[in-house]
Amino acid sequence: MSSSLATVSYIGAIILFILSLGGLSNPESSRRGNLYGMIGMTIAVLATVFGPRVTMAGLPWIIGAMLVGGSVGLYAARKVQMTQMPELVALMHSLVGLAAMLVGFANYIDPMAALNLSAAEKSIHEMEVYLGILIGAITLAGSLIAFGKLSGKIGGKPLLLPGRHFMNLAGLLVVIAFGWQFMHVETISSGMTALTVMTVIALLFGIHMVMAIGGADMPVVVSMLNSYSGWAAAATGFMLNNDLLIVVGALVGSSGAILSYIMCRAMNRNFISVIAGGFGGGAKPTKKADGDAAPVGEVVAISAAETAELLLDAKNVIIVPGYGMAVAQAQHTVNEITKLLREKGVNVRFGIHPVAGRMPGHMNVLLAEARVPYDIVMEMDELNADFPDTDVSIVIGANDIVNPAAQDDPTSPIAGMPVLEVWKAKTSIVMKRSMASGYAGVDNPLFYKENNRMLFGDAKKMLDEVLTALKAQ
Ligand code: TAP
Repeated sequence: MSSSLATVSYIGAIILFILSLGGLSNPESSRRGNLYGMIGMTIAVLATVFGPRVTMAGLPWIIGAMLVGGSVGLYAARKVQMTQMPELVALMHSLVGLAAMLVGFANYIDPMAALNLSAAEKSIHEMEVYLGILIGAITLAGSLIAFGKLSGKIGGKPLLLPGRHFMNLAGLLVVIAFGWQFMHVETISSGMTALTVMTVIALLFGIHMVMAIGGADMPVVVSMLNSYSGWAAAATGFMLNNDLLIVVGALVGSSGAILSYIMCRAMNRNFISVIAGGFGGGAKPTKKADGDAAPVGEVVAISAAETAELLLDAKNVIIVPGYGMAVAQAQHTVNEITKLLREKGVNVRFGIHPVAGRMPGHMNVLLAEARVPYDIVMEMDELNADFPDTDVSIVIGANDIVNPAAQDDPTSPIAGMPVLEVWKAKTSIVMKRSMASGYAGVDNPLFYKENNRMLFGDAKKMLDEVLTALKAQ
C-alpha cells in the first residue's frame, strides 16, 4: 500500500472514530456508533499492517501476534459476564500501559529511531520517550490494582499510608530530576538507568494511587484510567510518528477525562480529592452490613402477589434498576411487566442513576437489550422530583443508589452522593435476596422505613412470580 493511500485510510478511520463516539452518546444510535468504530478499526489495522512502514519480513510476526491477541480477545468477550465488564476494561487498560512502556524502551534503544535528528528534534524525541514510559507505567500498575479491587481480589478499603501526599510529591521530584538527567546523558546505557529508576517510581505511584482510593470511588478510577490509557496511546503515537495513534489516543484521553468529570459530579466528589485518595472507606465489595451501625426500625416483607396488587392499583410507578437486576438478568421480565402495566393504563417510568450497576450506562444497555422504550427511561435528575407524586417505587437489585444515608448521615462513606429518593413515593418496594449491603458496604436505612416493603429473593425469580400474579388478575 502506498503511503498516500495509507494516509487517506487513516483520515477515513479518524472520521469513523469520531462518528462512533457521537453515536455512542445516545442509546438509540449506539449500535450504529459501534459499527462505525469496528469499521474504523478494521481500516486502521489494515492500513498499518499493509502500509509502507511494515516490511514483508515483519508480516508473519504481526499476523501471528494478531491471531494470538484476537483469539484471547474473542475468548474473553464470549466468556466475560456483563457484570465483570469493568474488570475486563481495567485489564485492557493495563495492556495499553504495558504497550506504551515497551514501545518507549524499544524506541530508546533502537539506533535508527533518533538517526538524522537535529539536536532539538532529539530532545523532543527523548521527552516523548520519557513521558510515554511514565504515563504507560502509571496506567499499567494502576489498572492492575483497579482490576484486583473490582474483582474483589484486593480489599476495597483505601490504603492510607502516613505522609502519603509527601511520598507522592517526593516521587514526582525524583522523576523530574531523573528526567533532567535523562535529557543530558551521553550514552544509551546511562539513559537506561534514569529510565529504569523513573519506571520503578511510576509503577509504585500507580499502585499507591489506586490503593488509596476507596471502593465507593472505583467508578471514577475506571474512567480515569481509561483517560490515562488514551494519553499513553497518544504518547506512543508521538514516539512512532503515527498520526492515527495520536488522534485516537487524544480522543480516548479526553473522552475518559470528561466521563470522569461526569461521574464525579454524579457522586458529588471533587476530582482532585478522589485522586488524592482516602474517600469511600470500608468499601469491600459485597461486604455485609455492619451490625453495630445498623439503623433501627422494623423490616416488613411483602409477597409477589401483594406486589402485583399494589402495582395494579397504582397510577404512577417508577422502577429503579441496579446491579442485582444485571446479576439476575431480570431485564426481560421487567420489560414484560412494564408492557402489561402500561396496557392497563399505569404510567411506568424508569429512574437511572449515573453509577447504577458496575459501569457507565450499565442499566441503559440492559433495558435497551430488553427493548424497553427509550422515552420512559429517565435520568435521575429528570424524575427525582416526581417521587412524592408516585404511588409505587420499585427497586430491583439496587442499594447504594437509593440509600437515604447519603443525604442524612454526613459520616457515611457515600455522604453527599445524589441518590434516587424512592422513599418519597407512597410505597417503596425493594427487591433483593437479603439485608446485605451493596458495593459501598454501607447499611441502608431505606429498608427500615415505615412505607417500605422488602420483596426478598432473586430478582428474576421474584419478577417472574409478580408477572404470573399480574396475568392472573
Ligand atoms: P449495589 O449498591 O451494589 O447493590 C446491589 C444489590 O443487588 C445488592 O445489595 C444485592 O443485595 C442485590 N443483588 C445482587 N444479586 C441479586 C439478585 N440475583 N437478585 C436480586 N438482588 C440482587 O448496586 P447499585 O445500587 O446499582 O449501586 C452501584 C454501586 O456500584 C455504587 O456504589 C457505585 O458507586 C458502584 N460502582 C458503580 C460503577 C459504575 S460505573 N456504575 C462501577 C463500579 C462500582 P443482596 O445480596 O441482598 O441480594
